[in-house]
Amino acid sequence: MRKLRDLEYLHKRGPLVPLRLPIVGRVHFATHHDAVSALLKDSDRFRMRDTKGRVVGLKWWMPQALQRLADNMLSSDDPQHRRLRQAVDDAFARRPVVDMAASVKQRANDLLDDLSRTEPVDLVSAYASALPIAVIADLIGLRQNTRAVFFEAAQHLDGVTGALSFLRMFGPLKRAQTAIGDEIIAIRSGGGEPGLLSGLVEGQGGESGLTDNEIIAMAFLLLMAGQATTKSLISLGINELLNRPDEVTKLRETSTGWPLAVEELLRYCAPVQMTKPRKVHASGDFFGTELKIGDTLMAHIAAANRDPAYFDAPDELHLDRKPNRHVGFGTGVHFCLGFQLARMEAKIALQTLFERFPNMARAGEPERLKTLGQAGLSKLPVQLN
Ligand code: HEM
Repeated sequence: MRKLRDLEYLHKRGPLVPLRLPIVGRVHFATHHDAVSALLKDSDRFRMRDTKGRVVGLKWWMPQALQRLADNMLSSDDPQHRRLRQAVDDAFARRPVVDMAASVKQRANDLLDDLSRTEPVDLVSAYASALPIAVIADLIGLRQNTRAVFFEAAQHLDGVTGALSFLRMFGPLKRAQTAIGDEIIAIRSGGGEPGLLSGLVEGQGGESGLTDNEIIAMAFLLLMAGQATTKSLISLGINELLNRPDEVTKLRETSTGWPLAVEELLRYCAPVQMTKPRKVHASGDFFGTELKIGDTLMAHIAAANRDPAYFDAPDELHLDRKPNRHVGFGTGVHFCLGFQLARMEAKIALQTLFERFPNMARAGEPERLKTLGQAGLSKLPVQLN
């Protein structure tokens, strides 16, 4: 899998590079910016399901718990995809996200209040991970014990690097599913939390209402997609900024530069390194490769974000880069639902941390995640004061 991380190799061999992945099998990776955009925007030709309606990579031998979770928008094509996305679109629109900013800032400050000023702290678990999980759990409306179960499941997902860790993930996954089922029961009996989940349960009687299983798969997708990715952006962002004290001073003094900085961190770090696999539904040429129906393609986001034919000095981090048409959130119909939330959370997390602790310093080496397809840190030790 070394080749998947070697962006220079991928750019040279691109725009379409055939490689073999565990479980998924042979995949053509789109590695140039134009090929990635074309792949993700053509959702008629390149679909999440094969011609028999099966999700790519999901095998008959995998447990029921995992099969059921495939009933989500990211594993569906239109019209089913549109129906699922519309059920939650409003909650992630600009206005509600802007309205959440004050409470996110409060949460960030509360987490920082609790951290030691005298001992080294690990900012991944205590801050970068804790903030997004609290925010998405608030938005969905989860009770405290369900949050703990999800935290455990998310940690197992982060640790998936091979067959054994993949199998070890099933227990926590099943417990998380049961916990969401219990939330639905609690909402029906009037004992749930207000939030997106209760809205979905209350809408079940309507024309476009979701089934119980679709609601569970939705909650699961939002919790997983909303947590791991944002955690990676925040922790990788802190790590990069720690190397650039002068630029952080500039950001702190003007305070208007943070949105562009977050955008550049998204491009440069690419927390989601590659998209989900797509299946070819119409044969023919695609960027010089003759594709057959049933072939599998994936978009290599990290490679597209560093494409030398598209970005000037792609391997340099320029915190004021503009324009910056990266594909860190994907593009096309599956463009990230939570992009506004992620931008807002990352900006608040970074700004709050660096404003409160201008003398923060490293207290050890950061540790990188080994998960395929995701960039991130598992540890980032710092001394706050
Ligand atoms: C830095 C943070 C984030 C990054 C880098 C990111 C990246 C992405 C990418 C690349 C995709 C497209 C995947 C594909 O086409 O296969 C995607 C889809 C998605 N993201 Fe995010 N995401 C982030 C945060 C969030 C948050 C906070 C949420 C909120 C719950 C979220 C929810 C989703 C959902 C539901 C989809 C599927 C959309 C669809 O199928 O229509 N993401 N994200």
